[in-house]
Amino acid sequence: MTISAHIVGWGKYLPKEVLTNEYFERLVDTSDDWIRSRTGILERRRAHPKEHTSSLAVKAAWSALEVAGLSPRQVDLILLSTITPDYIFPGTAYVVQDALGAFHAAAFDLNAGCTGFVYALAVAADMIKSGSYRNVLVIGAETMSRILDYSDRNTCVLFGDGAGAVVLQASEQPGGILASVLGADGSGGGLLQQPAGGTRHPATPETIEHRLHFVKMNGNEVYKFAINAMTKASKEAIQKAGLAIDDIDLVIPHQANVRIIHSAGKNLGLPPERLYVNVERYGNISTGSIPVALCEALEEGRIQANDHVLLVAFGAGLSWAAVALQWGDKTTVAERPWWKTAVRTLRNRQAAAMQSVAKRAGRKIDAWWPHRNGNGVEKNGE
Ligand code: COA
Repeated sequence: MTISAHIVGWGKYLPKEVLTNEYFERLVDTSDDWIRSRTGILERRRAHPKEHTSSLAVKAAWSALEVAGLSPRQVDLILLSTITPDYIFPGTAYVVQDALGAFHAAAFDLNAGCTGFVYALAVAADMIKSGSYRNVLVIGAETMSRILDYSDRNTCVLFGDGAGAVVLQASEQPGGILASVLGADGSGGGLLQQPAGGTRHPATPETIEHRLHFVKMNGNEVYKFAINAMTKASKEAIQKAGLAIDDIDLVIPHQANVRIIHSAGKNLGLPPERLYVNVERYGNISTGSIPVALCEALEEGRIQANDHVLLVAFGAGLSWAAVALQWGDKTTVAERPWWKTAVRTLRNRQAAAMQSVAKRAGRKIDAWWPHRNGNGVEKNGE
C-alpha cells in the first residue's frame, strides 16, 4: 500500500497591531511611495510585547487542529520552523508541544530562514510516507519585530510577524504532497543574517553597540538570488511531480516582494492570476508567509479539490525549496455552529492546562484528558 501525505487542517494567526508605511516614514528616511513601488508592501503586523513566537504558533496550531478535527493528543510530531525562537534552547517546538498538551508528539525546530516552512513540509511528508508518523503538525512562526533594527531602513520596512500551521496526515488516497525540491548554498550566508547571539559572536557590549543582534541584509544580492532560486526550484519540483507548468492551478510563493514574485512568475510563463499574493497586507513573515498565504488562498476559494498547487520559497542560508502537491477533498472549513467550536476550543485548552498541572504534580497524565468524542473525563486504566 502506498501512503500519501495530505494537508487536512490549516490555520493562521496574525497579531492585531498594524504598522503602515506611514509609521515608518516617521521612523526612518523612507516613503510610502518607495516601499509600495519597490516591494508592494502596504502594511505588516507586529506582535504585542506579551506575545512571542510560540504563542503565535500555538494559536495557528489550534486552528489547524480544529479544521483537521484532531485533538492535540493525536499529533505524532510537531515540526516548527522559525528563525526567531523563544529561546536558543529548548526549541520552540517543545514550548508549543507543552502549551497544546500534545504529549504523544515528538517535536523539533527547523531553521532554514524564510524557506523553513517548505523544508518542514517536505520533511514531514517524507516521514509520513515512510510510515513513521501519521499526524504531523507543521508550523511556520515568526516574531521578526524582535530582531529588526527600527533605525535601518534597508530591513525594518520589509518584515512582519505572524504564524501559519497545517496538519499533514497519512492517507491511502492518491495525491497530497507529490514532490519536493530542497536546495542550499551556504556560501551566501552572509547576505542575510543575524550576526550575533550565537556561539561565534555571543552577546557582549560590543555586539550590542554595533547592533549585531538585528537582521542584516544585502537586499540587491538577495533579490537576484531569489528570482533565480524560485524559478529553478519551481521547474524542478513540477517536473519531479510529473507535471507541466500548465497543470499548476495556483503557485503560493514566499511573500517577500511582489516584484520578485512577478519576475519568477514571468520566467515560469505563469500569468499573474495563478500567483497568490498577499505581501501587501503582511510584508515578509519569513517562514510564516507561505502557510498564512495558503490559509488565505483557501478562505478566498482559490484552491479547489484536486487542484495542483506549488509552494516555493527562498531565504537565509541561502536556501530554497519547492513542494508540488495535489489538494485533497477538503477545501473549506466545515460549517459548524459557533458555540460548538467555542466548546471544543475551550475543552481542548482546559485539557491542555489540566494536563500541564497534572504532569507537574506527577500524576498519570492520560487520566486527565477528556475523550475527544465528548465522553467526558476518561480515567484510563482505572
Ligand atoms: N526607503 C527608501 N530608500 C531605501 C529604503 C527604504 N526603506 N531601503 C533601501 N533604500 C535605498 C538604499 O539605501 C539604496 O540607496 P542608495 O542607492 O543611495 O545606496 C537604494 O534604496 C537601493 O535602491 P535599489 O537598489 O533600486 O532598491 P531595490 O529595487 O533593489 O529594492 C529591496 C530594495 C531591498 C526592496 C530589494 O532589493 C529586495 O526586495 N531584495 C530582497 C529582499 C528580501 O526578499 N529579503 C528577504 C529574503 S527571505
